[in-house]
Amino acid sequence: MAKERIGIMGGTFDPIHQGHIHMAQCALAQLRLDRVLMLPSGNPPHKPDITPAEDRYRMVYAACAGLPGLEPCREEIDRAGVIYTVDTLSILHEKYPKAELFYIIGADTLMELQKWRQFETVLTLCTFLVCPRSTRYTPQALTAERKRLTGLGGRFTLLDMAVLDISSTEARQAIRAGAATPLLPVQVRQYAASAGLYGAAQRLPQGPQWLDRLYHALSPKRFSHTLAVADTARRLALLHGLDAVKAEAAGLLHDCAKCLPLKEMQRIARENALTEDERILESGALLHSVTGAFLAKTEYGMDDPEILAAILSHTTGRPGMSRLDMAVWLADTIEPTREPYPLLDKVRMLAGLSLEKAMIASLEGTLAHVRKKGDAVHPATLQTLEWLHTLPID
Ligand SMILES: [Fe+2]
Ligand SMILES: [Fe+2]
Repeated sequence: MAKERIGIMGGTFDPIHQGHIHMAQCALAQLRLDRVLMLPSGNPPHKPDITPAEDRYRMVYAACAGLPGLEPCREEIDRAGVIYTVDTLSILHEKYPKAELFYIIGADTLMELQKWRQFETVLTLCTFLVCPRSTRYTPQALTAERKRLTGLGGRFTLLDMAVLDISSTEARQAIRAGAATPLLPVQVRQYAASAGLYGAAQRLPQGPQWLDRLYHALSPKRFSHTLAVADTARRLALLHGLDAVKAEAAGLLHDCAKCLPLKEMQRIARENALTEDERILESGALLHSVTGAFLAKTEYGMDDPEILAAILSHTTGRPGMSRLDMAVWLADTIEPTREPYPLLDKVRMLAGLSLEKAMIASLEGTLAHVRKKGDAVHPATLQTLEWLHTLPID
């Protein structure tokens, strides 16, 4: 069997941005790696200003959720004290004894390798993949150093990639300003904003506690989706003159029950008399909105009736649903990390113009899809569509 080929990308990731992701994806494709471990550094004692490791890790975790081959790795943040690359590589060799390791570095790091602890040992533990970042060193100096280190047993491969020089400072400034920047994956931007990192205004007082709870309650994909929905709901609310904070809160909490086993959702629903509708009780896809609204109230301390209503109606919809309900409902279906589906572009475009028109297009598409599969449609969805058609829409 061929050896597994594992890339490693270390860094403070404060925060992870598109430049890091681009480097990891280039390495993955060009070296035909099986995966790249994204390895945030622990909290270095000499850098007191750095964001707590757990937050930096969770941003990496959320960013990687929809990116095949990129995996968040806790190896350095779960260890105490000063951590050297030689130790990390040795541990990873123990953990993956049959794998070949590739360590991704920038050109500047190549020049600093000789200062690393036990650097001659490090040279034997991995192949270095060097990214052509803008650097203060001349090409001649870089080539000379690479040749010298190769002579000492080092292995180096230059990655062929366009340089995406994004500075972390720039990314942090965008978060602080609340800007919809392309420098960052949407989940990272939303996580940082909800956690109040980098001087971002704390829009939701319970944001950090909710993030912590959701991180433990949801799968990586669901956590990432949740962050993207919160961002999209907020943007739709701003666009349509609705309460953006409520939309963001509902987006964050809308799937809080989604990863519970169906039996557990049913127990919660029955014990608290949440619904008697057997069709809802039998389907996790529907029941998680009912249990979600209940948990949002009891576990997350959310008592705003408008937010709870938006969570409650985010699966089937309901006749008479509010425009805030619609913004959350649509955010769930059009958020930027969604897998493409036939009407996605149309619904996205309409959502910017009219919430009602986007709802109609989306519901009609869903109905056609469900019927094609031969499945039954919940009556509330049909009633919602009928009700939407009665509205005066320009
Ligand atoms: Fe949901
Ligand atoms: Fe969702």
